[in-house]
Amino acid sequence: MRVFSNTAVSVDGKIATREGGHAAFGSPEDRRVMGLLRAHADAVLVGGRTFRAWPLPLVEAGPSRRPRRMVNAVLTRTGVGPRAGRFFEHPRILPVILGGPEADLDGFPAGVAIHRCPVAPTVAWACDVLERAHRVRTLLVEGGGDLVFQFLDAGLLQDLYVTVCPRIVGGAGASTLADGKGFPPETARRLRLMSARRLGSELFLHYRVLA
Ligand SMILES: NC(=O)c1ccc[n+]([C@@H]2O[C@H](COP(=O)([O-])OP(=O)(O)OC[C@H]3O[C@@H](n4cnc5c(N)ncnc54)[C@H](OP(=O)(O)O)[C@@H]3O)[C@@H](O)[C@H]2O)c1
Repeated sequence: MRVFSNTAVSVDGKIATREGGHAAFGSPEDRRVMGLLRAHADAVLVGGRTFRAWPLPLVEAGPSRRPRRMVNAVLTRTGVGPRAGRFFEHPRILPVILGGPEADLDGFPAGVAIHRCPVAPTVAWACDVLERAHRVRTLLVEGGGDLVFQFLDAGLLQDLYVTVCPRIVGGAGASTLADGKGFPPETARRLRLMSARRLGSELFLHYRVLA
């Protein structure tokens, strides 16, 4: 499976403020690029905290040319929270909930695909389910930092698209592009810059993860 991520970060590497929740750092161009990247994916995957901050469909802009609905998947240990709203009703997406053994996975509307892992889920398990059950060949990970770190740690993330936004957010504990337990210096992941584009004070970067 091809897996790539897309994240808008402040110059100090944050993807959210210390309060958490949804904060849009990017410009209209960042949102346009996000739509283009989504158009290249069969599925978008987010972690439970990102979903709760923005429980909305994640689709490309404009008319869809895909032959089937786009998978919008959420990985959760506890259960995602909301059971109603546009995410669960949007005609262009197939909502998929990927839960751990303790997750509350009851009460979702008909048409939501639910998968429970009998043991603590890994991102490899999530990829496997998406590939086998939903024919996902190209996966876009839209964060947050907890999830992106696990993909890097598992060696499953091939490309990162990063928009560096002209903001300083600060706040110890505010989510960053990759959080988790972190890598020791000797295994900190190495990247190759594939492309860079500047528009105004914003930078659009594409990095490939080196083996
Ligand atoms: N600027 C951007 O581009 C951008 C992009 C994405 C997100 N964000 C922001 O980032 C913040 C959230 O990021 P975050 O790093 O705190 O959290 P996150 O990665 O979005 O979500 C973490 C949650 O994902 C679930 N999860 C992660 N790994 C799991 C596993 N192996 N098995 C089962 N469930 C797993 C758990 O959900 P449960 O808690 O449901 O159990 C966990 O609490 C939000 O404020 C969001 O708005 C910003």
